[in-house]
Amino acid sequence: MMPSAHPIREVYRASIRHALGASQIVEFKDGLLAIDNEGKIAACDAFEKLSPRLPKDCMVHDLRGSWIIPGFVDCHVHLPQLDCRNKNGLTLLDWLNKYIYPAEAQFADPKMVQKIAPRFYDELLSHGITTAAIHSTVHFEATDIAFNIANDKGLRVVMGQVLMDQNAPENLLRPAIQLLRETEKLMKKWHGKNGKLFYGVTPRFALTCSEGLLLEAGRLAENSKVYFQTHLAETIKEVEQAKDIHHFKNYAAFYEDQHCLSPHSLFAHCIYLNDEELKILSGYQCSMSHCPTSNVFLKSGTMPIGKIKQHNIRCGLGTDVGAGPTFSMREVISCSLEVHPKNEMDEKRGFYMATLGGAEALSLSDQIGNFMEGKWADFAVFDNSECAGLAEQSYVAGKLVWSASNGS
Ligand code: GUN
Ligand code: FE
Repeated sequence: MMPSAHPIREVYRASIRHALGASQIVEFKDGLLAIDNEGKIAACDAFEKLSPRLPKDCMVHDLRGSWIIPGFVDCHVHLPQLDCRNKNGLTLLDWLNKYIYPAEAQFADPKMVQKIAPRFYDELLSHGITTAAIHSTVHFEATDIAFNIANDKGLRVVMGQVLMDQNAPENLLRPAIQLLRETEKLMKKWHGKNGKLFYGVTPRFALTCSEGLLLEAGRLAENSKVYFQTHLAETIKEVEQAKDIHHFKNYAAFYEDQHCLSPHSLFAHCIYLNDEELKILSGYQCSMSHCPTSNVFLKSGTMPIGKIKQHNIRCGLGTDVGAGPTFSMREVISCSLEVHPKNEMDEKRGFYMATLGGAEALSLSDQIGNFMEGKWADFAVFDNSECAGLAEQSYVAGKLVWSASNGS
């Protein structure tokens, strides 16, 4: 008898790898992943052990030679920046002004998001990413359409309309009151939809937000129990300018005053934070997204991953496309191994952060992140033993949504 309360719908036979913790990785060279008729994990074990317990008539997909892993969790990525990659030579603030803001302004025309979003989600899925925390643009309509398309594609997303009411080109600024009203509408429409779509209140970063906007955005996320996501302390220049504009000494304490800190708050980059700030963020059980490929590309610096670990702060990995040049979480892991010392980051921790750790950072580890019985069967199939190739198939919550091998 199988332990699941639901009948098994299908079973995958392949090499299987998943994380139970930061240094606890389970591997079955010849494994079975059994999925029930709801699309949840019924069992995951060695073929030898599990096969005698399977119902006689159950469908077995023989994927021997491939690896199955939990779908990657990308904790920080920008949908409108799909085609803005590899614009090198500038650091963050100049890069935003020269390349990113003009590209994002084009999303005023809904045709732009209709064109970009399907390709963006296909890129995520084809790299085995089944869950992502996404920044859209300042446009209400584009964000609404982006949610619709994510829904069609079957992805699990945390997403939000980007909020900016100062210090950016005029065509990307909106009055705070309008942004908050639009955010509330989108949040009501999409948060929790189909159990896979979640709203994240998304002020871009302190430089482009007035204190009033940040405070109301923070309160909205807090009161509505939705996510809150933003960039934090990515470059020295950004921190200095934020201090000048908002007259604070301590970036984290400033966010605390604006009601922006909670267990559902997700901060990208977090390179230039002192111990006092890390203590505050840890105290509120905030999460972080580590974006090493982006930090290397824009020469922003290196996240103090060892200290973040010491403070017990949940931390996932982010591709941060388009500052990050790749959707490959494997490359993001590799990059983290290059930039951090071995005692702070190793391959196991990288794999954990890209899967279960990311799910923990998004407070979704009761639903996804590894192959524990009862979680959603979000998984990716990689075509070689190093997981280095593209995913052949991404399987999201019980539905095969993408397959390179059959050209769909
Ligand atoms: N800080 C504010 N906006 C952005 C952005 O779009 N990308 C990155 N990497 N950092 C930011
Ligand atoms: Fe970013």
